[in-house]
Amino acid sequence: MACFGCFGCFKKRPNGAPEAERNSAPAASTGSTRTASSSIISRSDGSAATTGKQSSLSVASTASQKSIPALYEERAYKLRAFEFDELRNATNDFSRMNKIGEGGFGRVYKGYIKNPNEKGGRMPVAIKKLNQKGLQGHKQWLAEVQFLAVFEHPNLVKLIGYCAKDSEIGIERLLVYEFMPNKSLEDHLFNRAYPPLTWNLRLQIALGVAQGLAYLHDGEVQVIYRDFKASNVLLDKEFKPKLSDFGLAREGPTAGHTHVTTAVVGTYGYAAPDYIETGHLTVKSDVWSFGVVLYEILAGRRSLERNRPPNEQRLLDWVKQFPVETRKFSMIIDPRLRSDFSLQAAREIAKLANSCLVKNPKERPTMSEVVECLRRAIQMEPSKPPAANSNRTRTVAVSSRG
Ligand SMILES: Nc1ncnc2c1ncn2[C@@H]1O[C@H](COP(=O)(O)OP(=O)(O)OP(=O)(O)O)[C@@H](O)[C@H]1O
Ligand SMILES: [Mg+2]
Repeated sequence: MACFGCFGCFKKRPNGAPEAERNSAPAASTGSTRTASSSIISRSDGSAATTGKQSSLSVASTASQKSIPALYEERAYKLRAFEFDELRNATNDFSRMNKIGEGGFGRVYKGYIKNPNEKGGRMPVAIKKLNQKGLQGHKQWLAEVQFLAVFEHPNLVKLIGYCAKDSEIGIERLLVYEFMPNKSLEDHLFNRAYPPLTWNLRLQIALGVAQGLAYLHDGEVQVIYRDFKASNVLLDKEFKPKLSDFGLAREGPTAGHTHVTTAVVGTYGYAAPDYIETGHLTVKSDVWSFGVVLYEILAGRRSLERNRPPNEQRLLDWVKQFPVETRKFSMIIDPRLRSDFSLQAAREIAKLANSCLVKNPKERPTMSEVVECLRRAIQMEPSKPPAANSNRTRTVAVSSRG
């Protein structure tokens, strides 16, 4: 573990992929924490749930299952190792004009790199540049490199390569992804500068990310994503959703264990209460977060909105005033959808969200069950003429104050 604190212990392999020293711990290499203050959740006992605390269970491989670091060894060749100067040139020296976003890890830039499949051609990429000069940032960077080298799925963002440069003047850690031209689900749900997402797209996006999570949960190595939220769902040119940000992802519990015990990290408004209280992480923690995002998709409201009246600030509390089986239910639907949605499908999705949000994690559905349920809801579409709901009142915010 001590090795992990030292950036020098990652050496370049012949093919350029970063490799942990043989004596470094796999647990550390896939169990990162995030230091962005906006993202950190404190433990309920008041202790800081942050820096570098190791999990109490090993994530080493069992006889029947390879660990992520072992799989990474086999698959790292797929990633390109970029020179720092190549990425600097690609982004016009990380110019502000090229900046497309910023999160807890650092800034994200759009750039163009050589397209290996097209002679003389160039392709757009998103380049994330670590801004935290410390162990946590490096661990998060390494976790992302390892997870995305190992896992491939149409609903996971593709990592093209990375760059690690250590010099006397400091360290640089960068990640190079396929470029996702349609920003994030967060942008389209909550930013009024974008036209509203149609009902059908909302359902397709929910289904796509559910498939991505099911793949992680049921794959050759179980992975808990741990930071599922609308801003981590990126949209490609056809608005197909892809999960991004694997810096907080963890391998699931090893055989014979029900959970991983770990520091509590994630994002306010999305993390499961049982995980926050106990530090016990399971795939059902992701299922809870998925339930939160389902309500965000239905309502077009953020899980936490401090600038609303007190009884509307917490989405999960607010929707309780409009139970799914009552006539009032339609009041929760995003007014920007007007009447262009299926009330029947909306009820099914709210019921699904409620099942994801039950207190006891064992009673929550698996992500595969969620996928099936969403498929059925999508088949209900379009089941009604658009005018059928036109009398629905859209004074959502006002009515709940009264
Ligand atoms: N592969 C990509 N293609 C296009 N844009 C991207 C890509 N990755 C990230 N972005 C843009 O950069 C923004 C910031 O992403 P980032 O993941 O760093 O932060 P975040 O998700 O907003 O916050 P957090 O750090 O809490 O996850 C995204 O919202 C998106 O607009
Ligand atoms: Mg993100």
